[in-house]
Order: sequence, then C-alpha cells, then structure tokens
Amino acid sequence: MIIKSTIDRIMEATDIVEVIGEFVQLKKRGANYVGLSPFANERTPSFTVSPAKGIFKDFSTGKGGSAVTFLMELEKFSYPEALKWLAKKYGIEVEETVEAPENREEELRRESLMIVTAYAAKFFHESLLDTDEGKSIGLSYFKERGFSNDIIKKFELGYSPDQWEAFTSSALKQGYKEQFLTDSGLSVKRDNGNLYDRYRGRVMFPIHNFTGRIIAFGGRTLKKDKNVPKYVNSPESEIYHKSNVLYGLYFAKKAIRDEDNCYLVEGYADVLSVAQAGIENVVASSGTSLTVEQIKLISRFTKNITILYDGDAAGIKASLRGLDMILEEGLNVKVVSFPEGHDPDSYVRLVGTAAFKKHIDENKKDFILFKANTLLKDVGNDPIKKAGIIREIVESIAKIPDSIKASVFIKECSYLLQIDERALLSELNKMRQAKAKKDSQQQQSSQSRFAEMPDEPHFFDEPVIISEPVKEESFQEKEIIRLLLLYGSRMIDWDGIANTYIGPFIIAELGDVTFEHAACKMFVELYRAEVENGVLPEDSHFIHHREKSIVDITVDLLTSKYTLSDNWMDMHGILINDETANMKATILGAIFHLKKHKVEKILENLRLELKNADNQADQEILLDKYMRMKKVEKSISDFLGSVIIK
Ligand code: CTP
Ligand code: MN
Repeated sequence: MIIKSTIDRIMEATDIVEVIGEFVQLKKRGANYVGLSPFANERTPSFTVSPAKGIFKDFSTGKGGSAVTFLMELEKFSYPEALKWLAKKYGIEVEETVEAPENREEELRRESLMIVTAYAAKFFHESLLDTDEGKSIGLSYFKERGFSNDIIKKFELGYSPDQWEAFTSSALKQGYKEQFLTDSGLSVKRDNGNLYDRYRGRVMFPIHNFTGRIIAFGGRTLKKDKNVPKYVNSPESEIYHKSNVLYGLYFAKKAIRDEDNCYLVEGYADVLSVAQAGIENVVASSGTSLTVEQIKLISRFTKNITILYDGDAAGIKASLRGLDMILEEGLNVKVVSFPEGHDPDSYVRLVGTAAFKKHIDENKKDFILFKANTLLKDVGNDPIKKAGIIREIVESIAKIPDSIKASVFIKECSYLLQIDERALLSELNKMRQAKAKKDSQQQQSSQSRFAEMPDEPHFFDEPVIISEPVKEESFQEKEIIRLLLLYGSRMIDWDGIANTYIGPFIIAELGDVTFEHAACKMFVELYRAEVENGVLPEDSHFIHHREKSIVDITVDLLTSKYTLSDNWMDMHGILINDETANMKATILGAIFHLKKHKVEKILENLRLELKNADNQADQEILLDKYMRMKKVEKSISDFLGSVIIK
C-alpha cells in the first residue's frame, strides 16, 4: 500500500486542471473550467472542473471526484495506479508498505503483462542498437528509410533477432512467467508445450498507451518473400485493445492540443517520418479502419482531424463511407491526398518539411467536398449513378450535428454537383427527420439520466435541481453530510454557543443516531473519528478518500444542492438559497428533522409490536415506551417550530 505521507504529497502537488487538461480541452468559465465530457458523447459542455475544490463533475454521466477518481474512470486505473501516475507526473517518490493479500489479482495480471512487455521492448531496442545482427539488418534498414537516432530512441524502435527462441529464452532466464509471455502474445506455445518467439527477424514498433507504457508491438518483416506476412501485430490482451489505441498518440497529444488539429495517417512509418519532420501532431490507425473509440480519443484533444491519404484511389474510396462516423462525432474533417504512389512517409522524405506543409495547406479539402469530388469522377453522364452519389453525399451532410455547417456544405455541393440547392435541402431535411425520430425513440429509455443534466454548463455554486425522487430518509441523512461538508469548519455564530465549530457540534448533537444509508454512515464515522482525534476534517479528506462511495457522495453533495421536499418548504418556509442567512435554523433543522424521522420510525415499530403483543404486561411496557417516545417526538416538533420561527 502507498503510505499516507506519499499520498498527501501527491495530493498537494496535483493540479486538477493540469491533470484533466491532458485529456480534455478545458475552457475557463468564471472560477471553474468547462469542457466536453470525455465519458459521454456530448456537444454542449457539461463537464466542469473546480480548481478551488480540487474536483470535477460530469453532469452528463454523474461521474465526479478528484484527479485520482478522474484517472480511475478514464484510464481505468486502479487507485494505486492513478496515484503512481500522478507521482510520476509530479516527480514524487512513492513509498509503499507490503501489500496485504487482497483481491488484486486482475491488477497484478495487467501490471505483470505491462512489465513483461516493457522488458520485451528493452530487449528489442537493445538488440537493434547493440547487437551485430540488429545493427547490420534492423538499424541499417531504419537508416535507409531515413529515421534519425532521436526518432528511433523516442519511439523505442527495436529489432527481433531472426531466431526461434532468442527473446523467449532470455525472458524465461530473467524469471518472467510463461503465462505472461503467451498472454501478451510475445511468445507462442508449441503443441509440445515449448514456447517460441512470435517476432523473428522483424523491425519492431512498440505501441504505447495513453500514459506512455508499452502495451503491444507491430513487427515488420524485412524479407521480400510474399509468403511472409508484412506485419505481425500483438493479439488482443488484457492490456491491448486494438480498437481504442492510436499509434503515436502518447507522443502527439500535447502537439494535437497546441495545434488544435490531429493528422491521421495509415502506418507506423508515416507517423515516424512526419513526426521527424517536426509535425508532431500525427497518429496512425495502424492499417485498420478507424473506430468510434479512436475518434473519441482524438476528440478529447481537438475537434479537427486532417486525414493524410496514400495516393491510391482504391483505398481512398473504400474508406469514404467509414469517415461519416467522424462527422457524426461533430468533428471537422479535412482530407489531403498525395501524388499517386506516395504516402505521407515517402512524400515528406522526398520534398522535405516545408514543401510537405505547403502541400497540405494547398490541397486540404473538406471531407464532404472531397468525397463529392472523388465520387463525381466516376459518374460520367450516368444520371442514375449521379442520383446515387447525391444521396450518399447528403447522407454524410445529414450526419453533421451543426446545422449551420451543414447548410454551408449543401450550398457548396449544389454548386459542385450542379443540383438545385432546394432539392438538396429537402433531401437533407427528410434524412434529418428520420434520424430525429430514431434518436427520440432511443432517448426515451435514457430520459431519467438526462433529467439530471442541466441544459447549460453549471457551476458548483449554483443549486442543481435533482428531479429524481429522493427517499426521504436518505435525503435527511445526506443533508447532514452536506452541511458537514459545506459548513463544518465554520464557527457557530448564534447566541448561547460560542467557540465551537459547526462540524463537531453536529457530530455531538447527533449522539448515537444511526444512519441507514451506507455511504452516509461511513462518512459520519470518518468525520467523528477525525473530530475525536482533534482534527477538523476538510473536504479534501473525503474527496481523496480511497473508498469510492465516499468520494462519490462528497462530490455529489459539493456540486449539487438538494431541493427541499415540498412539505419541508411548506412547513417551515425555508428557501435553500437562504440557508446561510439563518445557520441556526439550517443546522438544527437538519439535525432535528433527522431525529424526528428516527423517532417516527421507532414509534411505528412500537405500534406494530403493540398490535402483536399478546399479554397485558408486555402491552403495558410497550405502551409506556410508546408514550415516552411520543413526548420526545412532540418536544422535537416544538423545538423545530421554535428554531425555525426565530
Ligand atoms: N498493417 C498491418 N498488417 C499488414 C499490413 C499493414 O498491420 N499486413 C498496418 C500497419 O500498421 C502499417 C499500416 O497498416 O503501418 C499501413 O500499411 P502499409 O502502408 O503497408 O505499411 P507501412 O507501415 O507504410 O510500411 P512500409 O512503408 O514500410 O511499406
Ligand atoms: Mn509506407
């Protein structure tokens, strides 16, 4: 386990805006920052970060928490992984105690796979740079292709020796377990149970995840033999899911954000050559067709994608339809093609950086127009074919969520296709209506989720109305937690009591009231423990708590205010926005409403017992209890009345 003082140092160093800013484009809005939720597909920002409180809240999914929670949600890190990521970022040394045998198997497996993969990368990198075979075959190939030492080192390129067991036997000698060697795909099991190397005599391109750890490899053959596959890639594993990885993203993400654009190429070599030319905002889909997950990855950093195509017409046409998906995500797509026979890699090497950039600037076309142009070339004078492509293009335009942008494209296409703009518009409207109908059917099921989402990006200080019915009891318990969080460290300023903080006062007043709601109960216990240690716990104590339910309830309560249920309002005329005006009423009101509710429950139970009691003695005892409780209830009600009125 990571020791407390290390955790404290990490929390102190962590700047939540900086951390989240690595994944989400944030804009300053008042005291907070807002951006598009990385957890949902949204067009208006509902994702809010409060640097002052050190928390984020995503109103479209309800997720919220600290920088640690964010990393756990987004990167699927475990709690210690998230802490270690932050420690690495801020240069803090992590001190750990020996882990108690908990159920950490899955995390250990993932970690083991990453460790063996990192070992393999080191093995391949060293055999490229330090062995005769690597130098004469692998390194000379890279040099021939024009890759600099810097690029080779930065992307940790490697070479796998042309032998059956070079890597596997080295790894086994180092003590790596067979299971992790096969699960990571680095080694393959023979029928007789022995392992051999998956990659033999190939140059190796390690694939980094978001955080820079190596999770997979692509290995390119150097043989001309047609029977040898050109690339051998790592299989899917617990650490490598091909569909949500983009080659080069780890190295490109900063430049993508800075340039507000992402170049998308097809191959490893393209990424390396373009990056080497100083254009660092470049990633590759690695030959497979683009997935929604990959587009979402990019859209965390920018809404602008420029696709750099190989100069081969067949490939371009095949991918045109798939690209509508990018439009659907609300991204702006531009397309650049290169002269026949060239890909970005060969072209940038041929003409140099400056001319390459010039080519991009002069040839980049909006995707829709590019598509229209490309398809139009095939049509000739065939009117039926032409009608078909018009439909197809309008279909693409209909996917653009921004209707102003869409209408601009309609105009341009009407010119390009020589079709009346109104005809295109009516086609577009038909498609939009069909889509809206489909969407509304889909949305009906998720209505309740949207009810929680404010239609404007909201700030932490504004009350958020939660329309979901809140169970009266947990509502009252949550109300106590909310007051502890918001006002616990304020001094009591009402008559009769002085020199006391609200937090310890509430804890003392609660006495032995038992909480039903699990997170509330735990929260109060944590708070009480701190108070008993002479500490006044701050928000951060709960925001950074290891227990997720504590973080969740804390962030929920810090970012939203429950509306009082109607009968509360009627009974006492409290307006939520006024709660600080009369702190005495607010605090005592909450405590005694909870107590009243608990007493009511006791009364209800007593009534049941009374009904079932079959001898007079029991009945008398119960009745006596009942009457006393009734008195308590009455005095609480009187007290509530008097407190609230004053
Ligand atoms: N690819 C693959 N398997 C193949 C062929 C290609 O995984 N059999 C992927 C690789 O990620 C490759 C990308 O598709 O980088 C583009 O393919 P290609 O253009 O053939 O490869 P390049 O990397 O451009 O290789 P080179 O320029 O060395 O021929
Ligand atoms: Mn190539």
